[in-house]
Amino acid sequence: MDNPWWHRSVVYQIYPRSFADANGDGMGDLRGIIQRLDHLAGLGVDVIWLSPICRSPQDDNGYDISDYQDIDPAFGSLADFDELLAGVHERGMRLIMDLVVNHSSDEHAWFAESRSGKDSPKRDWYWWRPARPGMEPGTPGAEPNNWGSVFGGSAWEYDPATGEYYLHIFSRKQPDLNWENPEVREAVYAMMNWWLDRGVDGFRMDVIDHISKDTSLPDGVVRPGSLYAEGGPHYMNGPRNHEFLHEMHERVFAGRATLLTVAEMPGVTIEEAARYTDPARREVDMVFGFEHVWVDRGPDPWVLYPLRLTKLKGILGRWQAGLADVGWNSLYWNNHDQPRVVSRYGDDSPEFRVRSAKMLGAVLHLHRGTPYIYQGEEIGMTNAPFASIADFRDIEALGHYAQAVEHEGHSSEDVLTVLRARGRDNARTPMQWDDSHQAGFTTGTPWLAVNPNHKEINAAAAVEDPDSVYHFYRRLIALRHDDPVVVYGDFTMLLPDDERLYAFTRRHGDTELLVVGNFSGERARADIPGAEAWSSAELVLTNAPARTGLDLEPWQVVIYRRRA
Ligand code: GLC
Repeated sequence: MDNPWWHRSVVYQIYPRSFADANGDGMGDLRGIIQRLDHLAGLGVDVIWLSPICRSPQDDNGYDISDYQDIDPAFGSLADFDELLAGVHERGMRLIMDLVVNHSSDEHAWFAESRSGKDSPKRDWYWWRPARPGMEPGTPGAEPNNWGSVFGGSAWEYDPATGEYYLHIFSRKQPDLNWENPEVREAVYAMMNWWLDRGVDGFRMDVIDHISKDTSLPDGVVRPGSLYAEGGPHYMNGPRNHEFLHEMHERVFAGRATLLTVAEMPGVTIEEAARYTDPARREVDMVFGFEHVWVDRGPDPWVLYPLRLTKLKGILGRWQAGLADVGWNSLYWNNHDQPRVVSRYGDDSPEFRVRSAKMLGAVLHLHRGTPYIYQGEEIGMTNAPFASIADFRDIEALGHYAQAVEHEGHSSEDVLTVLRARGRDNARTPMQWDDSHQAGFTTGTPWLAVNPNHKEINAAAAVEDPDSVYHFYRRLIALRHDDPVVVYGDFTMLLPDDERLYAFTRRHGDTELLVVGNFSGERARADIPGAEAWSSAELVLTNAPARTGLDLEPWQVVIYRRRA
């Protein structure tokens, strides 16, 4: 079989709410994206992934869908969508949709029907359960099990109309669909086929390792200091997950032109990822694992640890090795759920922001796999200066704050410190297009404040400046398109015990690349085995003015190429 096009591709994620607002209501929309397509074509990306744009009460910014086959009026119409898709295709790019089918919105017609009574034909489309035996329904502790919701509070919502509870791993407005029921699966496949028939090129599948649950829904383990249990072990990567994805492949993807499917899987291990992405198993093309973005947190996601580079290299190196023979890696630092990488693993001070953003981009893009760029990453956007909880909008941040401060006794300042570093709103501040009022994002009042640093950090300035992060990313993308070693080269990690340098080689045929990134604000020398042999190699790309061999400046990255 020919290698699929997405091996050579770079994907750009748009979070439509925060990308570009054409109608001045303060929220991004499809016409805003249409107006900015040339920015993406200029960057050279191959695929656009759109975070959800379907009809939604926006409880979790669209990850709560009330109609899978319509566009939310805040984003536009199906006609706008068709125009956008045509614009993407005209520029030689592709477009993938966000598929959010672990749960729907509680305002979806399916849920309204399911909720209407115990004998509703759709009752079993969601997870309804009676109170814990011997407990009065609706009273504290009577929930069917002790799982906490990802956004704080219990994972169960009591519905007085029928005296039962429904499961919601995320907010109470995101009831979990019951994939055990074949009618649910058929409805989802029909909807997916409808989008593909409309011309979309694939899907990013939201928390798709949550769809098969342990149907006995057992109690989980409660961490000291928490009110609820971590239910993940009972609903992540469950017994039928592979079966469901294989069935989806049969019912939706088989027989179509090559598409791109990428499965978000917070609970995935490398061994499982190799199975999910083994082409022979016909499940999905790649997965988003989380280990490398959880490297700086503990078992409690809300406890901060500093980055240990050796640990990060250990994780990414294992993923490279684990998917070297079968399967394929996705490569990402950022998305709408993660803080900005330059503030997290780099240095966002005026002195080193540009340089460290480029280093991080180069190290990621030179791994084997398909790189994902999250909007604003290509201009080195940073975390935002949130002053108080009132500046946050994210349901996760607000839910965590309420639980931690009001119910678990943590101080407001401590919780804010963590939210400033980790909160998802860092990624969601509006795209910084220029230095004008509201960064050119909107003529109105943005739904989430624009980062004041848009005066210096913006796309217009970056496009003008040949030394910008933007032009560096353009070169990285071009390098992938031009040199098969970037796409197919074997990966070998070097210096695994070094806390400052991230070094590896890639080899394909007679071509070898050496990549060394300095993850520190100090000079560092890369004492790699066989360093001599690289002294006459071609310097393909670097982010600091002088060629310094393997003596690296703070935050410098070098990419060398040689032919055997
Ligand atoms: C995924 C999304 C996240 C959302 C959650 C529930 O992790 O990326 O934004 O809140 O699923 O849909």
